[in-house]
Amino acid sequence: MTSILNNHEHGVLTLTLNRVDKKNALTADMYASLADGLAQAAANKDVRVVLLQGHETVFSAGNDIADFLQQPPADANSPVSRFLHGIAAFPKPLLASVCGPAVGVGTTMLLHCDLVYAGDNAAFSMPFVNLGLCPEAASSLLAVQLMGYQRAAEALLMGEPFMAETALELGLISRVLPPAEVNAYAQSQAQKMARKPLSSLMETKRLMKSSRTPQVIQQMQEESTVFARMLKEPAAIEAFSAFMEKRKPVFS
Ligand code: COA
Repeated sequence: MTSILNNHEHGVLTLTLNRVDKKNALTADMYASLADGLAQAAANKDVRVVLLQGHETVFSAGNDIADFLQQPPADANSPVSRFLHGIAAFPKPLLASVCGPAVGVGTTMLLHCDLVYAGDNAAFSMPFVNLGLCPEAASSLLAVQLMGYQRAAEALLMGEPFMAETALELGLISRVLPPAEVNAYAQSQAQKMARKPLSSLMETKRLMKSSRTPQVIQQMQEESTVFARMLKEPAAIEAFSAFMEKRKPVFS
């Protein structure tokens, strides 16, 4: 079964994470499909808006840990890097619809979206410290800019989940809805946006984001260097082994 579904209608490209049995954990192949989808959407004049969505029970459990261990991101051309740079520089409106767990990159990718709608069952987390890792997707910069240092520190240094109402207060999401309604609502908002002049949408987004984009790219590069180093260190090895063995990690 295809793990990323691709549907283009009414000017909206909808990319659906479709690996629910594994909680939409993202493999290198899925990152590659997402990166390709975004690149094609940027180039295709008939695509005016992109919507990223999951299932009403789960958005994404983040990186697929087994896949990640088998093929860790090697360089800037790795699928995960291509995806992260793709969302950071995506020139057209990017919407997301989130229900259930949104772990790691499942939350950090939202920092690059323009509008995020969430179900009241959405649980966001950036548990990098619990995995012996550091933040990615420029979240160490964007979370601080969005939430303020103290609240970003709570999210990133404690790594505990926070629910949709908190995410709304933090400014991470735009609206909370019943889970069964979120994808349909996000789709209707995306189609409404797609009826507006594309040049105005793109220029407005560019003007809102252009001053911080170089900083975002630089932060992402620094995070990737540190992340790649930490992946080989004992804490991450223990955290990943514990996940695979379905036990709690012991960091001594
Ligand atoms: N990578 C690989 N497989 C994953 C995964 C991940 N990130 N997250 C979940 N899965 C798999 C589980 O191993 C399990 O597989 P199995 O049925 O073959 O045993 C299946 O998805 C269901 O997961 P489960 O943990 O039983 O679901 P849950 O509803 O109890 O919990 C989560 C859902 C998302 C809260 C939980 O799976 C989780 O915390 N996952 C790890 C998230 C994480 O650390 N991500 C960061 C990676 S850098």
